[in-house]
Amino acid sequence: MDNQERERVQIFDTTLRDGEQAPGIALDPDKKVEIAHQLARLGVDVIEAGFPVSSPGDFEAVRRIAAEVHGPVIAALARAEEDDIDRAWQALAPAERSRIHIFLATSPIHMEHKLRMSPEEVLTAVKRSVGRAAEYTAVEYSPEDATRSDPDFVVAACRAAVDVGATTINIPDTVGYATPFEYAKLIERVVTEVKEGREDVVISTHCHNDLGLAVANSLAAVHAGARQVEGAINGIGERAGNTSTEEIIMALKVRSDVFGVELGVTTEEIYESSRLVSERTGYPVQFNKAVVGRNAFAHESGIHQHGVLRRRETYEIMDPTSVGFAGSSLVMGKHSGRAAFRHALDRLGVELGNGAFDKAFSRMKQVADHSGEVSDAQLMTIVDEVVAGTEILQGVADSFR
Ligand code: KIV
Ligand code: ZN
Repeated sequence: MDNQERERVQIFDTTLRDGEQAPGIALDPDKKVEIAHQLARLGVDVIEAGFPVSSPGDFEAVRRIAAEVHGPVIAALARAEEDDIDRAWQALAPAERSRIHIFLATSPIHMEHKLRMSPEEVLTAVKRSVGRAAEYTAVEYSPEDATRSDPDFVVAACRAAVDVGATTINIPDTVGYATPFEYAKLIERVVTEVKEGREDVVISTHCHNDLGLAVANSLAAVHAGARQVEGAINGIGERAGNTSTEEIIMALKVRSDVFGVELGVTTEEIYESSRLVSERTGYPVQFNKAVVGRNAFAHESGIHQHGVLRRRETYEIMDPTSVGFAGSSLVMGKHSGRAAFRHALDRLGVELGNGAFDKAFSRMKQVADHSGEVSDAQLMTIVDEVVAGTEILQGVADSFR
């Protein structure tokens, strides 16, 4: 598909709002501002900086980000209440471009047990609150728990929001309940029945990962016409988290043949964004996490290592440098082969004759059986002992246990 035909998908990053709602995370304003600058370097389209009415610290963080961070739209969350909306606007006022994000649930369970409101009261509150916010700035409306709501009512609430000025309609899978097929169907309906004829209205996704489907659901939604995706770096967020911003970016990039959309991000900033968020939140990144885990571009088995040494693309679908990694890594372990072992020795500047190479290789396997991954330091110890001709290698494996 020609680049000019491609529509733009906006990346709305909510690391600093929904991401921060993950149990145990509390980011002070300094940390939020630091992360927001990194998100701007990453080139996300929208930064949801916080929920100003929720605490003085969050108000200050949103206000400072609005004043100091340039490039992305700065968004703030608000319930459908006057106080929330006015506080959000006070915090956002210094921003070059701002957005108030109003949420009000549409599912029977939320309306009955949480809000204690009838559907008619919800529609009235949507109109009142979105209308008020639209007098200040751009407005996004989210029918919270949309995927457990009556689709007719979701459409009615979204239409009501658009009628009074909302230009982004976000469809939250608040509890991570949807499957890709169902979510795409709902998005398709909203695109057809709410956006139709409104060039200025964007339909957005917001998925949670309770069933591990957040990224899949978001992608299905893009396929169905959504043009904004909400996510958080490293997938942090309430419970099992949000759609992972870096995964959605790379899925849309790597499989642009399937999705045919454009993004405005600088993917080389992904790894630094992940590292910073992990460090400031204290949430580690799992080793095998897609795109940013330490094993995302690491190869241990001999067959894969051999392939990657001949041509990286045999076992990699992304260039590690395209997401900010230094490069692929070949890890020495029990599954590693001779080609990768030789490569590791070359990298360490070690040359061994055939006999010594064989000895060192079999010692490496013995050590790997005990320690899993064999570090460069361990490799050098093995080499030293082989070169020194010491036949007391038996001790090596024991010492690494
Ligand atoms: O998950 C959710 O429904 C939310 C809303 C506030 C958009 O985070
Ligand atoms: Zn959420």
